[in-house]
Amino acid sequence: MTEQGGTIKAPRGLAGVSVSDTRISKSSPDGGLVYRGYPIGELAAKATFEETAYLVLNGKLPTRAEFRDFAASLAALSKVDAGVFDIMRSLGPGAHPIDVMRTGVSALGSLDPERSRPGRERSIESKMAVLAANSRRVPAGEQPRLPADGEGFADTLLSMLTQREATQFERWVFERVLIFYMEHDMNASTFTVRVVASTLADPYAAASAGLASLKGPLHGGANEAAMDMLLQVRDPGDAKKFVDSAVREGKKLMGFGHRVYKRFDPRARLCKQYLREMVQRRGGDDGIYRVCDAVEMEMWERKRIPPNLDYYAAPIFYLLGIEIPLYTPIFAASRVFGWMAHYNEQTEENKLIRPDSTYVGPTGLTYKPIDERGP
Ligand code: COA
Repeated sequence: MTEQGGTIKAPRGLAGVSVSDTRISKSSPDGGLVYRGYPIGELAAKATFEETAYLVLNGKLPTRAEFRDFAASLAALSKVDAGVFDIMRSLGPGAHPIDVMRTGVSALGSLDPERSRPGRERSIESKMAVLAANSRRVPAGEQPRLPADGEGFADTLLSMLTQREATQFERWVFERVLIFYMEHDMNASTFTVRVVASTLADPYAAASAGLASLKGPLHGGANEAAMDMLLQVRDPGDAKKFVDSAVREGKKLMGFGHRVYKRFDPRARLCKQYLREMVQRRGGDDGIYRVCDAVEMEMWERKRIPPNLDYYAAPIFYLLGIEIPLYTPIFAASRVFGWMAHYNEQTEENKLIRPDSTYVGPTGLTYKPIDERGP
C-alpha cells in the first residue's frame, strides 16, 4: 500500500488488504481454512450442515437442545408466500435463476413488515433454499416444490432440486459441498453484504446485494461455467489440446485459480475425493472424473494454477442430476448463512464502509452552453 496526500492507496482489487477483523472464518495461502477455529476437514468429516451453520452464526457448536431448536426454526420459517412465487413467475422462463432468486429475496423483504427487526436473518436463511430450488421451475410456469417435513436442510434442498433418488453416500456428499459453500471470509459477495450492512440497511437488502455479486463467473457463477467447460472437453484425451488452446488464446478456465489459495483449495481436494468415490460406487462410466483429473493436470503443468471448489462441486451436482443453471443458486442457499453471520458481525461493531478513490480524470474544465458544443 502506498500513501498519497494522507490517503492510503490500496492495490488493485484490494488484493492482500485486510478490510476488517472477523471471528467467523479464515482461508490461508497454504490451503488452510477454518470456520470459527475449526479446520474445514474436521467439520467435513464429522459435522452436519445445521451444526456448521449454527457454528458459523453463533461462534460455537450447538448443544442438543440448541441444535433441535435451530433445525426446527429453519423448517418453521421456510414457508414462502404465494405472492413471492407470483413475482418470480412473472419473470418468465428466460430469466436466469440467480436473478430470479435475487428478485425473490427482494420481494420477501418488501412483503415483510418486520424486515428490520433483530433476528430477521433466520427468515431469509430458511427461505433461500426454497427460492433456489424454485428459481428455474416457477418462472417456467411449473408448480413450486416445497420442503418435505422431517428432513434435514441438505436432504430437503436436494429433494426439491431433483426428483432423482440419491443414495445415502450421495446425500452425504451433497451436504459436504453445502458446508464448503457456506462461508469463506472476505470473498466478493460477503464484502458486498458487509458494505450494505454498514449502511444499516435490512438483511434482505444485504442478501439481495450478495446475490448480485455472486452471479458473476469470477465468483459464484464459476460452478456453472466450469460444468459447461467440462462437458465441452468430454474426453480425457482432449484435455491437453483444450488447455493448450485456452492458454494460447489468453482465456481463463473457469473453476481454476483463487485470490488466496495459490497451491491448492482444501475444499476442491476433498470434493475430488468425494467425486472419485461417487463414480466408483456407481461402477461403469468414470469419464467425468477422468476428464476433471486430466484438465487439472494439464492446467497445473501449463500454468501452476490449481482447481477451486467450483471445479469439483460442479461434476458432483451433475452426477446428482441437478440442472446446471441451479448450481449458483445452490451456492447462494448455503452462503446466505455466512452472509448473515457477517451481516451481524458488521452491524454489531459498525463503521460505515466508505473508502476513498484516487481521481485521475481531467480538472479545471470550463462549461460551454449546449449550442456551442457542435452538432
Ligand atoms: N485460467 C487461466 N489463467 C488464470 C486463471 C484461470 N482460471 N486464474 C488466474 N489466471 C492467471 C491470470 O490470467 C493472471 O495471469 P497473468 O499474471 O499472466 O496476467 C494470473 O493468473 C493472476 O490472475 P488474476 O485473475 O489477476 O488473479 P486474482 O487473484 O485476481 O484472481 C480469480 C482470482 C478467482 C478471479 C481468477 O483465478 C479467476 O478468474 N478464476 C476463474 C473464475 C473462477 O473459477 N472463480 C471462482 C473463484 S473461487
